[in-house]
Amino acid sequence: MIRLNVNGKPRDIDVAKDTPLLWTLRDVLNMTGTKFGCGQGLCGACTVQIDGQATRSCITPVSAAVGKKIATIEAIGRTPAGRRIEAAWLALDVPQCGYCQSGQIMSATALLATKPNPSDSDIDDAMAGNICRCGTYPRIRAGIKKAASATTTADVSEPSNRTEA
Ligand code: FES
Ligand code: FES
Repeated sequence: MIRLNVNGKPRDIDVAKDTPLLWTLRDVLNMTGTKFGCGQGLCGACTVQIDGQATRSCITPVSAAVGKKIATIEAIGRTPAGRRIEAAWLALDVPQCGYCQSGQIMSATALLATKPNPSDSDIDDAMAGNICRCGTYPRIRAGIKKAASATTTADVSEPSNRTEA
């Protein structure tokens, strides 16, 4: 039996220690907000946070997350940075098909939690591993900047002109 801390709650699971965290979340805990893309750490669709660090759950064995705090898209809106990012995403209508967006949000939130006013190069570094086949990169960047400039969710909740991808 393995005990994980997922979104602040203890979860006891019976899986092999080398089971990828992604499959543990999706297939054992039925938390399907975290997506499978490449399965090789290359696309970022599976990004979660472990102790605040954006982490590719497809290549992370569940044993590596024991004793650490796992945060997923299902609960990221409870954090101050997550609230601002989610509000900015809605205000700017960031997603297109949406498949990559939980991973994008997890990386963006990890960035804002450590760098509240990230530079363009900070954003480039933090988001480089998150691929979007729909090309929403300009709106993702605008969303991060909007969230960074906001001090409250209300500051980012007003719809504004959409930045075309
Ligand atoms: S599914 Fe994990 S990085 Fe692509
Ligand atoms: S919104 Fe479609 S892959 Fe990113």
